[in-house]
Amino acid sequence: MTDGIDIAADSAARFARFDLSRVPSPCFVVDAAQVERNCTILADVAARSGAHVFLALKAFAMPALAPVIMRHLAGTAASGLHEARLGRERFAGHVATFNAGFKADELREVLKISDHVIFNSPGQRARFGGIVDEARAAGGRAEIGLRINPEHSEGWNPKYDPAGPCSRLGTPVSQIRPADLEGLDGLHMHTLCEQGFEPLARTWAAVEPKIAGWLAGMRWLNLGGGHHITRPDYDRDGLVALVRRIRDRHGVEVYLEPGEAVVLQSAILVGEVLDLTENGVPLAISDISATCHMPDVIEAPYRPELLGELPEGEGREIRVGGPSCLAGDVIGSFRPAVPWKVGDRFAFLDQAHYSIVKTNTFNGVPLPALAVWDSRTDDLSVVRQFGYDDFAMRLG
Ligand SMILES: Cc1ncc(COP(=O)(O)O)c(C=O)c1O
Repeated sequence: MTDGIDIAADSAARFARFDLSRVPSPCFVVDAAQVERNCTILADVAARSGAHVFLALKAFAMPALAPVIMRHLAGTAASGLHEARLGRERFAGHVATFNAGFKADELREVLKISDHVIFNSPGQRARFGGIVDEARAAGGRAEIGLRINPEHSEGWNPKYDPAGPCSRLGTPVSQIRPADLEGLDGLHMHTLCEQGFEPLARTWAAVEPKIAGWLAGMRWLNLGGGHHITRPDYDRDGLVALVRRIRDRHGVEVYLEPGEAVVLQSAILVGEVLDLTENGVPLAISDISATCHMPDVIEAPYRPELLGELPEGEGREIRVGGPSCLAGDVIGSFRPAVPWKVGDRFAFLDQAHYSIVKTNTFNGVPLPALAVWDSRTDDLSVVRQFGYDDFAMRLG
């Protein structure tokens, strides 16, 4: 257990021992030991509560880590056909697939390889009823669910709040009619983002009275992701008690599909200083691009932590940006422990989730390599390097 441990500080201390010149630059380096530690916590929650925990592939989907993750978790949560295939072919266990808008041909494939298929609206479900029937007649075993919008918002960032005003994700519970529920095996809701247990408890308190009657005829309830279960301050006992209560009271299996929590504090993105200039402030051009390699820095937005950064007031602040021509390709301003020289290596912390899966080759910027390191043994393997072909292939 990592109770009481500051996992951010722990991660910084582990990666401080890693020699950044051991990998090509740029490169994501994932610590298998930390992934395993997170998964152990999730497995403990699963064992104590009876919940089934799936990795949300949208957050992190490196097959090289599948053997570690699948030792502990029950399966994967996919956002469509491609992730469902990855879950089935490269990971293991259950595949639960939600898509906000299925296409008929994709759905036929999704139904073959998923254990659960979750529709976003009764309209999609009704329109594709024939395809579901065909899949079942052919021996398919996929169960069918509907994503609900509990109409209770705990979102702190409107961009990541599927329960916010005018959301297209999930069917508002106030719109659901009895006919919409016929033949459903389960309900799904996902409304949280990087949150503790209390927002989930409040959401459940708000929605339970509305859906209790519906669950009576169903087999499962999927509580989505956004649960920061592996953070030391997460109330895991509260979650365990809630899941047990839901299972006992409603007679359903409970699924959780965290993404971030599986890989929190488990990877760095290593970069190199390409040039140092000044324009009102000290500037560095690096081979890490915010827009290509860590787009959430701009989209969310957020400021990543620099490994070994000095505290406010110490050292000299330098504004760091990528090699692309986008003026806004700026990662942030940082205080390196030692003034940078051209050719120096550096790293940003906590880069496993929503970075590797979101990289792109805008401007022809090279994709970072992928490496797996084990901080317990110091074993390192560079699992993939990318080149011109990866850029050109996607352009036709
Ligand atoms: C339906 C669904 N499930 C699971 C997740 C995973 O969330 P997180 O990585 O925040 O745990 C998301 C994230 O957007 C989601 O939309």
